[in-house]
Parts: sequence; C-alpha cells; structure tokens
Amino acid sequence: MPSPLAESPAWWKEAVFYQIYPRSFADSNGDGIGDLPGITSKLDYLRRLGVDGLWLSPIYASPNDDNGYDISDYLAIGPEYGTLDDFHALSRGLKKRGLRLILDQVLNHTSDEHAWFRESRASQTSAKRDWYHWLDAPAFDKEGRPVPPNNWRSVFGGSAWEWDTATRQYYLHCFSRKQPDLNWRVPDVRRALYDVLKTWAGRGADGFRLDVINMIAKAEGYPDVPRPPGSTEPFLNLDEYGVNQPPIHEYLREMHQEVFSGSDLYSVGETWWVGAHNTLDFTGYDRRELNAAFYFYFHDCTSGREHFENFHKLYQATRGKSWLTVTLGNHDSRRSLSRFGDAANFRHASASLLATWLLTLPATPFLFQGEELGLTDHAYPTIADYRDIQTINRYHELVAAGHLAEQALAEVRITSRDNGRAPLPWDSSSGAGFSTAPPWLPIAEAHRPFHAAGQIHDPGSIYTAYSRLLALRKRMRSLVYGDFIPLADPGQVLSYQRGAWENHPAVRVVLNWGSSPQPWPCDPPAAPALLHANHGGVDYSHLRPWEAVIFVAPE
Ligand code: GLC
Ligand code: CA
Repeated sequence: MPSPLAESPAWWKEAVFYQIYPRSFADSNGDGIGDLPGITSKLDYLRRLGVDGLWLSPIYASPNDDNGYDISDYLAIGPEYGTLDDFHALSRGLKKRGLRLILDQVLNHTSDEHAWFRESRASQTSAKRDWYHWLDAPAFDKEGRPVPPNNWRSVFGGSAWEWDTATRQYYLHCFSRKQPDLNWRVPDVRRALYDVLKTWAGRGADGFRLDVINMIAKAEGYPDVPRPPGSTEPFLNLDEYGVNQPPIHEYLREMHQEVFSGSDLYSVGETWWVGAHNTLDFTGYDRRELNAAFYFYFHDCTSGREHFENFHKLYQATRGKSWLTVTLGNHDSRRSLSRFGDAANFRHASASLLATWLLTLPATPFLFQGEELGLTDHAYPTIADYRDIQTINRYHELVAAGHLAEQALAEVRITSRDNGRAPLPWDSSSGAGFSTAPPWLPIAEAHRPFHAAGQIHDPGSIYTAYSRLLALRKRMRSLVYGDFIPLADPGQVLSYQRGAWENHPAVRVVLNWGSSPQPWPCDPPAAPALLHANHGGVDYSHLRPWEAVIFVAPE
C-alpha cells in the first residue's frame, strides 16, 4: 500500500539533525569557548553516531548579549568561533562525510551594534530610520520621563520599548534592549535579509533554522495588549500583537520565492504558537512558505501520553499535506532526560526510550547535543555561575520583588536555559576534554561520568543506543515514510504501527513511558522479528520500567 507520506520524498524528510550550540560543543584553541575548528574536530564522532546533518546555533559576529542571537554582522564569523576559512573547512569536512549543514538565522532583530541599527539610531532623519520600529513617547510623566508607546513586555522582562535619549524616540525590542526588532514593512530590509540567506547558501549551507520567524510582522498601530481583569503588571505578554500577525504569510511567501524556490534548501521555522490548528498555513506543501516548523508542545508536556496526543493531533492535521519535525529539547529548554525520563533510577532505559520515541515518528527528528550522552539538568552553586540573560534578569526581578536570594536562585535554576548549555564532556580530563581553559560556563560536575570517550565503545551506553536507532531508521524507511497508526489509546504505555513503505515492512513500536512495570498492550506477534529492545530480550507478557521495543509487524 503506498504511504500517504511518500508522495514527494526529500532529503530533509529522511534526515536526522543534530543541534550544536557552538559555544558549548568543543574548544580548539584553549580560550574556554567552543568554536568552528572544535566542531570540525568532532565530525567523525557525529558521523559514527549516525546523524545526517547539523544545525548550528548562530556563529556570526555578535556582542553576545544573547549568545549570538544578537547579530552585529550577518556575513562575518564571530572571532571567538574562528574565521571564514574555518567555516569553509567545516563545510568541506561535512561534505566529505555526506553530512548536511543548516545555519541559524535571526531575521527578526539585529544587535544594537549592527551597522544598520547604528545608522538608524543616528538621527530621526537617517535613511535607515524606518528599518527599525521607532515611535514617539505618547506622553511624559510628572518628572518629565517618557511613557512607552504601549504595554508590550519584552520576552526577557520589562518594557519592549527602549528610549533613545539622543533622538528622543522609542525603539522596539521583543527580546533584550540590545536586540532591536527589524521593520519588515520596509522592502529594502527584506531584500537585505534575503541577500544574507543567499550569501550563506552560496557559502555551502543546505538550509536555515529561522529564529522566531513568526514574530517578524507586528500589529499595525502597535495596540495595547488587553489587560486581564485584576492584573497590575505594568507590561503584558506581547504574543497577541507580536506573533502570527498579518502580513506574515506575504513575507514568508516572498522569502520563499526569493531564496528557496527552485533549490532544495531546507527551511525550518522557530515558531512558538504554531500547532495543529494553524501549522498548514505555514508549512503546507501548497503554501510555499516554510518546509517545516518546530512545535513547542514538548515544553509543556510532562508525560509520554501528552507527547503522543500532541504528535498524533499534528499528524492528523498534516498527513500528506506537510512534513513535521520532532524534538525533545534545545538550547532554550531543560534537558529532555530530566523532564521526561527517570535519570536517578533508570538512566539508560529512560534515555533510550526517549531516543526510540524521537527516532520512530513520521517527522524530521532534531537531537540536541548531549542527549546522546544522557546529560541531565544540573544546579550551579551560585547565580554568578549562570550566563543566560533570561536567567539573570529573572533572578534580579525576583530579588527586587522581595524574594530571598536563595529562593530566587532555586526558582531560576529549574528553568534556566543554561541547563542545556553546559559544555559537553568529551573525556575524563579536568577540562572534560572541552577546553584546557576555564570554560565560559562551568562544566557541570554531574556530567563528568557520562563523557563521550567512555560511551562510544561501550555496547551498553546511551550513545550506542542512539547510534543503533539511527542506523535502524536509515535501514527501515518505513520508519520515515510509513503511515502512523496508533494501536491502543495512549496511557503510560504507547504503541503504534508504522505502515509499510516500498519494500520496507510495517513496524510496531511499544514504549512503557514510566518507572513501573505494565502489561504488554497488544497481541504478541507469533514469530516476533525484534528490531530493537532497550532491556535486551523481550517477554511479550509484560513491560519493564521504561522498556522500548521495535519489531516487524505481523502480516
Ligand atoms: C529564539 C532563540 C533564543 C533567543 C531568542 C531571541 O527563541 O532560540 O535562544 O534568545 O530567539 O533571538
Ligand atoms: Ca575557542
């Protein structure tokens, strides 16, 4: 039976990507910061793991107010990461190994140190004034201080508007004040950004991860966000007027037309607030906007059942009409093993179950660096150890609101983006093989025992489980293109079939997403052809904690 998913095979449907956070991956020159030659030195590690491509978080010139998501020159490599020659060397190393490369591009905002913003900021009559969102103060308070144009709250806290004392207007920054938002209404802005993408495609990128791409259009007139009854917060979440606003789809279609059409470049949007109800508007094959979107339900989920239900809803909404992605974590989230697994009691089983889920769905999987080592969240001892602007801002907000320092630290630790950003442990040396210098963010002591050198040759390691599953996905294309058919209602146990595709047989997956044993959920196969089992053998009467099994479906 032909699969509804295979009508247009594409390299990016079959690929598994591995996200690298370059600062934290590998440091080649002993300055404590991961860099491009560091990545190049680990390509055999990645090849051996079995991924097909890399997504690199930003590697461009940046004052690093938000670790590179504040770009001061889109076309220059940040000196801490290396040079353009280093980029070319990385790109050659990838090509030699048949690996793809997608780059992160931040088109919603620049750094305030970008030449465009410097020029825009120079005077109210600057030729690039309208490249950013500048507004007058609507009023001044009794002390003569300006009042912001509206009540939008920056994602990193406080007003989304910053007063420029020299030219006496406000500019918009949905993130930090060092990340002014670009004004996509201006055709020259859009053209300049398309040129950036084309330049990097010319330099060898196979595609782009587009940062907060559904925020590029802002509501006309910048209206106040309606205040919920009883709220006294001075500033409110700007989603309602800063996200998914018209003319977002015109912009995305134009970008597709100018940059992507006629090529096989891949585009995946970072798209909060996109889900089953609206994803086809962005990613439908007939839309010619984005190839794919990231879905953030994993941020709010705690159980396997919720993952399953969210994924299934997306699948039903998009089956045969667009192609999904799946991910368990990234550089903005907690470690997936800490959120969804049981690292304290069942580290190997729960990490390999998560890998099984990630790698057996009809979607492009994105692993985040360190997931293959089973890394977990960790608590740094003091606030001074943290580097993430969101963590630090939130800590100070809590202290200013009267919380004890210890309480504020305890709270920000849980969600800190630095949980996922700790340097990777490569070996047992004192710098964990990451660097010979003190790293920009301390090594997480709890990660040391799980270093890569100790795992790559160990048949029982989490790394080996990932590499076996990656090899299986490559061998069994039904795991990519086969239809997705639930076998039972999801509970702690999840079971689903992936339909046959071409000469690849249908496959079943059974997952016990929890720390208690469970009954086997479906008819045991008569002569089971086991493809993968994370506890060794399988007894088809009950499931052990975190057991994950893949087998050829009975005829
Ligand atoms: C995205 C990035 C995040 C960054 C923000 C602003 O959400 O993933 O790290 O802080 O955009 O660019
Ligand atoms: Ca370095």
